[in-house]
Amino acid sequence: MNSGEVGRARPPGAPQRPQRKKLPHERLRWPRPEEEIFFITVRCELRGKNQFCYPKIARGILDCVEFRNRNKVWYAHLMCLMPDHLHALISFPYERPMKQIIANWKRFVATKFKIEWQRDFFDHRLRKEESYRQKADYIRANSVRAGLVTQLERWPYLWTADPQESTSSEGRALRDGAPGGRALPFVLSAIIMFSVASCRPDMMNQPKAKPLSESDFFSNGTNARQPPAHTVARGDARENAEFYTGQMNGKYVTQLPVKLTRDLMVRGRERFNAICAECHDRTGSGNGMVVQRGFPQPPSFHVDRLRNAPIGHFFDVMTNGYGVMSSYATRVEPEDRWAIAAYIRALQLSHNAVLSDVDPAKRATLDDKK
Ligand code: HEC
Repeated sequence: MNSGEVGRARPPGAPQRPQRKKLPHERLRWPRPEEEIFFITVRCELRGKNQFCYPKIARGILDCVEFRNRNKVWYAHLMCLMPDHLHALISFPYERPMKQIIANWKRFVATKFKIEWQRDFFDHRLRKEESYRQKADYIRANSVRAGLVTQLERWPYLWTADPQESTSSEGRALRDGAPGGRALPFVLSAIIMFSVASCRPDMMNQPKAKPLSESDFFSNGTNARQPPAHTVARGDARENAEFYTGQMNGKYVTQLPVKLTRDLMVRGRERFNAICAECHDRTGSGNGMVVQRGFPQPPSFHVDRLRNAPIGHFFDVMTNGYGVMSSYATRVEPEDRWAIAAYIRALQLSHNAVLSDVDPAKRATLDDKK
C-alpha cells in the first residue's frame, strides 16, 4: 500500500483505492482524487423481469465497470446487480458530467448485453455525515431485503472494487472470471485484456473541447476562441472578391470567374440536381417535388428577367439566399456555386435554342417533326 502518496483526503470510511497486486496495472491515480461519492440507482424498463442476474451477463457488465475504473472514466466502489435494477457507489472525475458518463455506459451496456434500461437514473450524493460504510451495507443487504437470498454473502451479483472488500467469494469469482473458483493470475489478465478489447470507451472519451462547449479554463467561460485581431486564418484571405462575392465594384460580374470546362459543367449538373432540383426541378422551371408539396414556387429560370440576369446574381442568390430561399453558402463551396451557376446558364440556353445555334453539319440529323 502506497500510504505515503500525496493525495487529497478521502471521505471517511471510503475503501482504499484499488490495487491489484497480481496485475501489471498501476493502481488508479486520478489527477483529482475522488472526493464525492454518489449513490446511483439505474432501473430496467420492465419491472420484475430479470435482465442482470445471469452469470455471463453480470460478468460482462462488471468487466465494463472495471474497465472504466482502470481508465479513470469513473471510479465505481461497489455495485449490486439486482434482477431489474442496480445500485452502485461511484465517484466521477470533474472534467466530465456524471450524466454523460452514465449515459455512455448505459448505451454501451444496452447494445452489448441487450439490456432495456429505463430512461435516466437516480443519484444521491453522499452527505458528509452519511458514511460510505452505511450506504455500502445498505446496498449489500438489498438481496436479503428483496428475499432473494437469506444471507447476503450468498448473493453472487455483488461487486466491490477492492478485492479485500468483497464479502462474497462467489462475487469475487464472478469478478475474476473464473467459473466457480479462484482465478490464476494469467487467466485473470487474459480476461481483463479481452475486456479492454471489447469495451474500449477510450477512443470515445477523448479529452477535447467542443467549439461551443463551456470552459473553466478561459476567463469568458467558453471554449470557442476568436481569432486575434487583424489576423486571417490560412486559406481564408478571400482576396479574390469576384470569386467569393460574384461582384466587382458593387456590380454583379457578367463573366464566370473560373475556367469553363466540361468538368465544371458536369459538376454543376450533378450539384444542381442534388441540391436545387427538389425545388427548381431539373429543368429549372420551378416545379420541383418540394414545391408540388406546398413550398412557395420559385420563378422559372427561363423568364426574361433571369435569362438576362448577370451570372454573378445566381452566385449571390446561392451565397446569401433570396426572399424565402435560404442561403446555401454552408452547403455549397464557392467553386461549386460557380459550377451550378454555369449549369443554370446552360439550362437557360437549352430552353431557348434556335436552329442556327446548332452546328451546320449536324442540323440535318435533327428530327424536324417539331
Ligand atoms: C427549398 C426549396 C429551394 C431550394 C432547395 C433552392 N431554391 Fe432557389 N428559390 C426557391 C424559392 C422559393 C425562390 C423564390 C424566392 C422568393 O422570390 O422569395 C427561389 C429563388 C431562386 C432564384 C431566383 C432569384 C431571383 O432573382 O428571383 C435563383 C437563381 C435560385 N433560387 C437558385 C437556386 C439554386 C442555384 C439552388 C441550389 C443551390 C436553389 N435555388 C435551391 C426555393 C429553393
